[in-house]
Amino acid sequence: MSLHQHYANHFKIGAAVNAYTVDSRAELLREHFNSVTCGNETKPASVTRDGETYDFAQGDKIRDFAAANDMAFRLHTLAWHNQTPPALYSGKSRTDAIAALDRHIARMAAQYPDAYAVDVVNEVISDAPNGDALRKTQLLEIIGVDYLDIAYTAARRHFPNAALVVNDYNECDAVKSRRIFELVRGMRERGVPVDAVGMQAHYNIFSPATDEIRCAFDLYASLGVKIQVTELDVSLFRHDDKSQLPQDESELARLLDHQAEYYAALFRVFKEYAGTLDSVTFWGVCDEDSWLNNFPAPRRRNMPLLFDARGAKPCYDAIMGV
Ligand code: G3I
Repeated sequence: MSLHQHYANHFKIGAAVNAYTVDSRAELLREHFNSVTCGNETKPASVTRDGETYDFAQGDKIRDFAAANDMAFRLHTLAWHNQTPPALYSGKSRTDAIAALDRHIARMAAQYPDAYAVDVVNEVISDAPNGDALRKTQLLEIIGVDYLDIAYTAARRHFPNAALVVNDYNECDAVKSRRIFELVRGMRERGVPVDAVGMQAHYNIFSPATDEIRCAFDLYASLGVKIQVTELDVSLFRHDDKSQLPQDESELARLLDHQAEYYAALFRVFKEYAGTLDSVTFWGVCDEDSWLNNFPAPRRRNMPLLFDARGAKPCYDAIMGV
């Protein structure tokens, strides 16, 4: 039985891919996943330089792979402070920026009308424990605090059937989770269409603890929205650790066993929330392709995913046992 079959009664199992891994990992993708997301190819900077001319070749390749293999397609992302071409909004008035945002969302919807979920905005909450809850982004500065309401209202108009997601990281942190909660609660009270909280789930084998994850699930579930796990990986290093993997094989094996236990505990929690949690997307397929091989230190090898180029790792067996 494959991974997505194993969890078929609980939630979708997705993977982020790029235009290369959609070929190189095609076999694993077909077997184990029933949802795909573009890791970069549908971000604003990947599809347009100016909001006028668009090139969807890479995103389309991934969408077509998904369609050909009966996999659902998650769209990432319409508005983000990163990977956005300056010409999209810079120097525009509030009115023109709102029009540009609407045009961009409309163009994305025309291209990817079948996306089942859309990260409308990505990472809009500030990490600074004091001060404003909202990250100071270009759209916030130009349009004002209602840019989020405007973005979701436009997204609903253009994507009538997709789940509209607020996606963020450090989503189990006490301060940040409360901010995400308040943001979504306020939007829903104002009648703004937010359907789901996206928990990116960039975790590591030490943190967050299962209890913290459960607390975050309880908090978001209490909003009456769906939850999606959108970018799951489990690093072998603490967040700020830039050291190398151990040379010693048995030491590395111990870390991978620890990772397997962590993944199993995580999926036990995920199963408790199935129904509210409707998709779990890994941020990559194989360790070799992970963004964590370049973050926080360039070319520092990490092993955060279920597979490596040789096949399934202990953490794969662990979650198949849940
Ligand atoms: O495509 C160029 C290539 O031509 C160039 O030679 C190379 C040299 O650095 O860079 C390549 O671009 C890289 C791009 O990924 C494609 O691989 C960028 O430098 C690199 O910064 C970019 O990183 C992406 C990152 O978002 C940017 O913030 C990661 O692949 C992508 O996995 C990551 O994804 C984000 C989510 O969107 C939001 N949540 C966090 C997550 C991880 O950072």
